[in-house]
Amino acid sequence: MRRIVFGFVFALAVCVALVACEQKRVAVGEKAPAPQSPPADPGSSASPESAKENLVIFSWWTAGGEADGLAELIRLFEAKYPNTAVENAAVAGGAGTNAKAVLKTRMLGGDAPGTFQVHGGSELIDGWVKTGYMAPLDDLFESRIPRDKFPAQLLDMVTHEGSIYSVPSNVHRGNVLWFNKKVFDDAGLSPPGTLEEMIGVSKILKARGITPLALGSRNKWETLHLFEGLLLAAAGPDGYRDLFAGKTPFDSAAVKEALKRLAALMEFVNADHSALTWDQACGLVQEGKAAMTVMGDWAKGYFLAQGWTAGVDYGAVPAPGTVGQFIVVTDTFGLPKKAPNPEATRNLLEIIGSIDGQVAFNVKKGSIPARTDAPMDAFDAIARQTMADFAKDTLVPSAAHGSAVREAFVIALNDELSVFLQSKNVAATAKALMAAAKDAGISE
Ligand code: GAL
Repeated sequence: MRRIVFGFVFALAVCVALVACEQKRVAVGEKAPAPQSPPADPGSSASPESAKENLVIFSWWTAGGEADGLAELIRLFEAKYPNTAVENAAVAGGAGTNAKAVLKTRMLGGDAPGTFQVHGGSELIDGWVKTGYMAPLDDLFESRIPRDKFPAQLLDMVTHEGSIYSVPSNVHRGNVLWFNKKVFDDAGLSPPGTLEEMIGVSKILKARGITPLALGSRNKWETLHLFEGLLLAAAGPDGYRDLFAGKTPFDSAAVKEALKRLAALMEFVNADHSALTWDQACGLVQEGKAAMTVMGDWAKGYFLAQGWTAGVDYGAVPAPGTVGQFIVVTDTFGLPKKAPNPEATRNLLEIIGSIDGQVAFNVKKGSIPARTDAPMDAFDAIARQTMADFAKDTLVPSAAHGSAVREAFVIALNDELSVFLQSKNVAATAKALMAAAKDAGISE
């Protein structure tokens, strides 16, 4: 009898503990097991949440403009594939400052997202394709995305050994100088075309109590972004390419000249630059506290998100000394070999590569479509000019945005330039860059 009573009490205790446990789990926000749902009606698009498969899209698009572009892609996808729930796994920090490290942890730790933002060129090919993490997409480009609608130069940036590994969502121009029209008009100034002109207008603006050039160097890449435009102007497109190909050493005259120009510009930059991000620097221009900023045309997405009108409130010209040259920044999306739902990823990639996807996304993002056949009527005049320039200018890949050169050297460039902003020591920085190029295997 005692044994029976003990058994009963024990069983009761276990039951109570289990119920308490379950309540606690729900209370802390964990999902309770989903109730058994009836099989989905194949004809109906509304399916219970529990029946949905999950698709993770990973990026660093969280700032004004870029987040809106991403939301458009997700909106188009969810409208077409209601049975797949998209998880926006964006990690804040311009140019992937934080996202790239998180992505590495996920990919190497067997937790690959469905797809992720990656720049065409070295970042994709050296970083993820040659290392064996990505699946080729040739079949997708044969059946669902028209390969011949993408410019050859872009496809080259996402191709390895004859296979395509990602779908370009956009083309950003890196070398753009943005200016506040009212500030320029009030001072009776025209936007500068050369560095000399830029120094000239900067002196006048400074005398008027306005910060001439807004910079947010908080995450370091923003300084490299400014510098690579100066480097392109000093070295020319061939010289620029030769540097990153290891054919010209980093202590060459063009690099030193570009460093001197950077030091000269820093006289006209906001004092708090190391505390600001790229979008905060754009904010200074928008508020009229600063007159200009050099940034890729995701800045246009930011301005749009703030209600600013292209050509009315602000204008854009190529960064000083780079007319006829185009620094290409292309965001692309591929299929990790370990993506949990490859078919869902392919569906999203098809949307990214579609005309509807390219238009909806790029209008908000500030970039131009990667496809040459996308109608441009929804785009502003600056975007149309960028489209025309992309077709005729000399194209070079961005280093700051991972296309021109391997990540190890991009990190070294970021670090050395950040030291340079303090030291302004041209010779020491050139020497350090040369050593870093050797370490990164760029040059001998
Ligand atoms: C770039 C990226 C752009 C934009 C920018 C700022 O690297 O290509 O799409 O997002 O960073 O975050």
